[in-house]
Amino acid sequence: MTRAVEIVINGEKVGAQVDDRLSLADFIRGQGLTGTHVGCEHGVCGACTILLNGAPARSCITLAAAADGYEVETVEGYRDDPVMALLRKCFTENHALQCGYCTPGMLATAYDIVQRLQAPDRRRIRLELGGNLCRCTGYVGIVNAIAQVIAELGGPATPA
Ligand code: FES
Ligand code: FES
Repeated sequence: MTRAVEIVINGEKVGAQVDDRLSLADFIRGQGLTGTHVGCEHGVCGACTILLNGAPARSCITLAAAADGYEVETVEGYRDDPVMALLRKCFTENHALQCGYCTPGMLATAYDIVQRLQAPDRRRIRLELGGNLCRCTGYVGIVNAIAQVIAELGGPATPA
């Protein structure tokens, strides 16, 4: 079966008729927004993480039909967002990516960490990243980048 959905992606309303079983990840990618990566496709790796009404969600196990009426932010979005701009700068400065496959999901989760938690230490940052797998970096650069953002925003976590 199909149904009509309207989803706001990066500030723009997208209306479509979707199959009941279409994943939100495939729906997003079908709009040409291929920055949302798909890895495991069963909710384990975190590569497909996007913000759904401001909270991180795995778009591979979220149905597009279930996102009807929601707002989605993908890595192509965050226009003029100073926190995401700072995250991108710090990921670059700390070499927090190699192949980059995990990076869109990492940035969505990192965005949530620095917005939601007032003063996470490095142990808490690592715990919060537990749902985002990176096969390249060993996580050190990623944790350093997030710690730097928190420090620059006035929190206690300091870069190594
Ligand atoms: Fe969605 Fe791995 S592709 S969690
Ligand atoms: Fe390659 Fe994270 S940078 S998987």
